[in-house]
Amino acid sequence: MSETLAIDGGTPIRTDEFPQRTLFGPEDERQLLEVLDSQNAFFPLGTKVHEFERRWSELYGVSHAVCSTSGTSAIHVAIGAINPEPGSEIITTALSDMGTVAPIIQCNCIPVFADVQLGTFNLDPDDIERKITDKTAAIIAVHCFGQPADMDRIMAIADAHGLPVIEDCAQAHLTRHKGRLAGTIGDMGTFSFQDSKHLQCGDGGCTIINDEELGRRATVYVDKGCDWTADRKYRLHYAFIGPCYRMTEFQGAVLLAQLQRLEWIVSQRQRLGDLFCELIAGIPGVHPPERTEGIEHSYWTTPIRIDEDVLGVGPEQFAEAVLAEGIPIAGNWIGKPLYMTDALLGRIAYGSSDLPFDYGRDQPVEYHAGLCPTLELGMSQLRTLRIHEHFGDDDVRDCAAGFRKVAEHYLSS
Ligand SMILES: Cc1ncc(COP(=O)(O)O)c(C=O)c1O
Repeated sequence: MSETLAIDGGTPIRTDEFPQRTLFGPEDERQLLEVLDSQNAFFPLGTKVHEFERRWSELYGVSHAVCSTSGTSAIHVAIGAINPEPGSEIITTALSDMGTVAPIIQCNCIPVFADVQLGTFNLDPDDIERKITDKTAAIIAVHCFGQPADMDRIMAIADAHGLPVIEDCAQAHLTRHKGRLAGTIGDMGTFSFQDSKHLQCGDGGCTIINDEELGRRATVYVDKGCDWTADRKYRLHYAFIGPCYRMTEFQGAVLLAQLQRLEWIVSQRQRLGDLFCELIAGIPGVHPPERTEGIEHSYWTTPIRIDEDVLGVGPEQFAEAVLAEGIPIAGNWIGKPLYMTDALLGRIAYGSSDLPFDYGRDQPVEYHAGLCPTLELGMSQLRTLRIHEHFGDDDVRDCAAGFRKVAEHYLSS
């Protein structure tokens, strides 16, 4: 006989609150006060953003780190550095924040969605290859949920076709892929410092680059095309037109403070996330992310697939029961593949035009259900669990016990 579920009146696994994430402390305050005391929050004339860029590029071992206002702007800066022709196609995943895709459209390019692998939710290299055309200008590989995509295969395909690769590391700070930091394997890496991320300052972003020409263009692109790269002395000389995504000294100051905790945050997340996955391993119908030797997972959140065919209940009912056990299971993150959002289905971007979706084509690119079948299947099964750095081992054990209790109940009924 399985235990009575809390949802049916049984005793919940957990009644205490889980720990909250503590974001700020005295070091943030000290850094911010220094900015106020300096009477300058404009980064070109300040020290904080420059210092953060220096430390971030050192940490990643790259020649350039270009800060901006968000993860979205960091991707916009990366595409702007490549400078693709309007109407070019950029291949990416439809399981991401719209911030991966909006900059493609803002650069007058067309998002092309490749399918994912069911076990990791990361891009399927075979489908990337199938989607390459003579209009393809770049690939954006999102390291989904904190686990790097299969960069060996993605780089081999990109190299064979002469395509640059942008790694979207918004969810995978300081995460290694076979010994190399995600973000340094492709041509550029981008980061979000929005408040849910491992390193955060409320909102912010950074693009890292290890190429002189791309690095110079990114540095100029982030500030309306204003080129002061020759001697780093600020002046209004416009090399080309770009957006304005200058980070403020306040963000730079908080990032410097937060940087001191980043290694601890990432290692805690990795350890606790791995522990949770070990504890639920082998439960029929409950699938933690598949792992590959040498590829770390830093668990921005933990994706778990709930297989109705095995458990006899779907993810919705399963999650309601887990929630009743006091375990903070959440939804499938973005709800539906990005190509199924009203904005992309309706190609709503610039006025009443179809731009850029019809640029240089007889018919606009169309998005529709069925475009990425594996992603659609995976998302229909997906639930997530946010285990953060302030959880203890016992909190993780409770989470796993909640999953196990619910699964065992449905498996036995
Ligand atoms: C994978 C991914 N890419 C891009 C972004 C966009 O970042 P931001 O919200 O900082 O613009 C996010 C934000 O959650 C993300 O998760």
